[in-house]
Amino acid sequence: MAWQGIMNKYKKYLPVNENTPEVSLFEGNTPLIKSVNLSKELGIELYFKFEGLNPTGSFKDRGMFMAVAKAIEEGSKTIMCASTGNTSASAAAYGARYGLRTIVLIPDGYVAMGKLAQALQYGAEIVAIEGNFDDALNLVKEITATHPITLVNSLNPYRIEGQKTGAFEIVDDLGDAPDYLAIPVGNAGNITAYWKGFKEYHKAGKISKLPKMKGYQAKGASPIVEGKTFENPETIATAIRIGNPASWDKAINARDESNGSIKAVTDEEILYAYKKLSDKEGIFAEPASAASLAGVIQSVKNGDIKKGSKVVAILTGNGLKDPDTCLDIAEKPVSIPGTLESVLELIEKK
Ligand code: F0G
Repeated sequence: MAWQGIMNKYKKYLPVNENTPEVSLFEGNTPLIKSVNLSKELGIELYFKFEGLNPTGSFKDRGMFMAVAKAIEEGSKTIMCASTGNTSASAAAYGARYGLRTIVLIPDGYVAMGKLAQALQYGAEIVAIEGNFDDALNLVKEITATHPITLVNSLNPYRIEGQKTGAFEIVDDLGDAPDYLAIPVGNAGNITAYWKGFKEYHKAGKISKLPKMKGYQAKGASPIVEGKTFENPETIATAIRIGNPASWDKAINARDESNGSIKAVTDEEILYAYKKLSDKEGIFAEPASAASLAGVIQSVKNGDIKKGSKVVAILTGNGLKDPDTCLDIAEKPVSIPGTLESVLELIEKK
């Protein structure tokens, strides 16, 4: 049968009742791609969960359908979020499809071009503020607490409920949990959601063991690693440019309960992994997503991830969202006369 969306597939694990409307852009069911080259290089069995193939190109859709369904069920007409880009694109798409007013607050100048284009295209009301994501989220929390507007950031528990299905899909594909789950950490909702999903599947007897959760923050925005908030977080991975994660405690809980870790990766490590992923596996993910592979490379090197183990790295967003980063680091194509002679001369030089 054709894919019917997450709500249909995992209904019994979700907060769905007879009053919950069916909300879907056919999110989920993303591929678990087995590595063909990096597995060998690293000496592990590596898989990529490519969340960039969701309808708006990121894992946010996995939680947004659920948050929007509950907002409609509760009679809400307006949804709002702060965003480094992906949440706003996702909220805007579902908001458009189900006739909700969608308001998004973004840090001016720090949202990748493709994400901004998406929010505009889906018709969201976009407010760019002078400030960072943390400032935007504080404003959204205050406004939604005092107005009849539904907050759809991952502080909304329904977002977590939807996103936990990523763990279900991995297990349904592999037949058990992996040894390690590598995941980028920004506002810390996704690591919280995956851990919840694995625990629920464990309780349901679907897996024999729980994975160790390996979270990775960008070094310039690594409050959980450092144990202190960052006033001015900075990283090339703008999606995770966050200095005071909303689900900080829950991320620590996932780390500790799973016997895992949350570590920092530098922008250099992120960019190396970003390019490597495309060069060696044919996968184009955005820089923040590459933080999970950067972390795997680092952790295998220092023995934190054991050789021979089964590792799933979550690739949270599509590389097409952020063409600027790619173009900045790429060698530009040369322009030559359109003659057989000059084309042959060029390709024979290689
Ligand atoms: N990867 C990408 C591509 C993201 O967009 C985000 C978060 C994360 C990783 C981190 O996930 O916040 O659950 O720890 N993006 C949010 C946004 C903040 O506004 O789109 P997290």
